[in-house]
Amino acid sequence: MVFYRSVSLLSKLRSRAVQQSNVSNSVRWLQVQTSSGLDLRSELQELIPEQQDRLKKIKSEYGKVHLGNITVDMVLGGMRGMTGLLWETSLLDPDEGIRFRGLSIPECQKVLPAAKPGGEPLPEGLLWLLLTGKVPSKEQVNSLSQELQSRATIPDHVYKTIDALPVTAHPMTQFATGVMALQVQSEFQKAYEKGIHKSKFWEPTYEDSMNLIAQVPLVAAYVYRRMYKNGDTIPKDESLDYGANFAHMLGFSSSEMHELMRLYVTIHSDHEGGNVSAHTGHLVASALSDPYLSFAAALNGLAGPLHGLANQEVLLWIKSVVEECGENISKEQLKDYVWKTLNSGKVVPGFGHGVLRKTDPRYTCQREFAMKHLPEDPLFQLVSKLYEVVPPVLTELGKVKNPWPNVDAHSGVLLNYYGLTEARYYTVLFGVSRALGICSQLIWDRALGLPLERPKSVTMEWLENQCKKA
Ligand SMILES: CC(C)(COP(=O)(O)OP(=O)(O)OC[C@H]1O[C@@H](n2cnc3c(N)ncnc32)[C@H](O)[C@@H]1OP(=O)(O)O)[C@@H](O)C(=O)NCCC(=O)NCCS
Repeated sequence: MVFYRSVSLLSKLRSRAVQQSNVSNSVRWLQVQTSSGLDLRSELQELIPEQQDRLKKIKSEYGKVHLGNITVDMVLGGMRGMTGLLWETSLLDPDEGIRFRGLSIPECQKVLPAAKPGGEPLPEGLLWLLLTGKVPSKEQVNSLSQELQSRATIPDHVYKTIDALPVTAHPMTQFATGVMALQVQSEFQKAYEKGIHKSKFWEPTYEDSMNLIAQVPLVAAYVYRRMYKNGDTIPKDESLDYGANFAHMLGFSSSEMHELMRLYVTIHSDHEGGNVSAHTGHLVASALSDPYLSFAAALNGLAGPLHGLANQEVLLWIKSVVEECGENISKEQLKDYVWKTLNSGKVVPGFGHGVLRKTDPRYTCQREFAMKHLPEDPLFQLVSKLYEVVPPVLTELGKVKNPWPNVDAHSGVLLNYYGLTEARYYTVLFGVSRALGICSQLIWDRALGLPLERPKSVTMEWLENQCKKA
């Protein structure tokens, strides 16, 4: 086993990693790279057979083990709380939040390579971690950065396809259309048409996924410049890392905005498998649709206001508060505004979650970023007031399971502060980041030979009959 070789090796690795990275004791375990190989694909080549054996063993030894009872509430409640998906890259704890391959966000901030000492993690490092379960060295991250740069070119027809849409089309529509247009280059589709053995599926999936991850920032930046900057595009800068180059192509050169983009892309990448975008990508790919088709489908789920579009909704809602009540709104006025929103049958965007039951650590790290870089910003101060005012109101409502803020409650005010003020565009940024998580899992889906997803559905009559019998 490379993932879990042996307890003694792991403890040696851990003590070395702690010394090397000055990691606090809060890091409970850590997989550091033992090889110095710079090629991510070769790392996977080594890992895949071991993980395939591991899955076979779980199936044969534990296949019949009960995982609890499924209730009618779960069937009718959007499958909440049902364990039904294998998702290797991350795991979400309701109280603690997300762990990427076992590492929490603060742990990732400590151990993943950064562009500058003490800075935010480089998304390429997170991608390496998601794919391999191991913390990469700075050299490996640099090598991956160059690999992504070398894959970052886009055929001309992609731009023409986007240009065929009205410039007023929603940015997510333009973005997903661009991703669909990229699909014509799918290596997986070509290989499948030629006839490829299923044991090799992961290889063209890897190629497509890496190309897609490399290319989505270019598509996203094109949409932004087309919509808001008269189509005046900015070429990529090969000297920059993934996050900084994305910010650069959007038109932002400040080093703080580059740091923000690194953090943003890192924390939005993955949130285990059951959320709408991740699940959609995984579901569509289970039919052996290639990564472009699967990711475009995932983006369409992300574009819903209860999911990724909430970041747009939050900033528009905050701006409507300011418009109606001014920036120096009192907590009492804010409370009234929240009730007004609820009484008009709307949700308070940026609050609540399908799984989390505490403040989202993705919110907390953005709050820390704001306290460090923009403590006096009036919109940040308003967001802080909302943190105090909204949870008691949602609790009073009596039905909301999690009154605390989620990732989307904070991202908009940071972007707005650095000049990215176009709220309708925000979900596209989320989409770029999600490519890292969804594509990483898609590679493992194919490497582990995960099957077609096909849950059982039932009718109300079937449920009534079952309940009567019970
Ligand atoms: C994220 C969200 C969709 C989770 O939905 P969920 O799992 O069904 O959440 P709950 O079980 O707590 O929902 C129970 C009830 O509380 C309501 N509720 C949950 N969060 C709410 C919020 N922020 N504002 C108002 N009502 C909310 C639900 O709409 C539901 O009402 P209903 O029974 O009348 O249909 C929900 O919290 C929400 O709509 N939040 C605002 C949008 C948002 O920020 N989305 C981004 C999530 S990362």
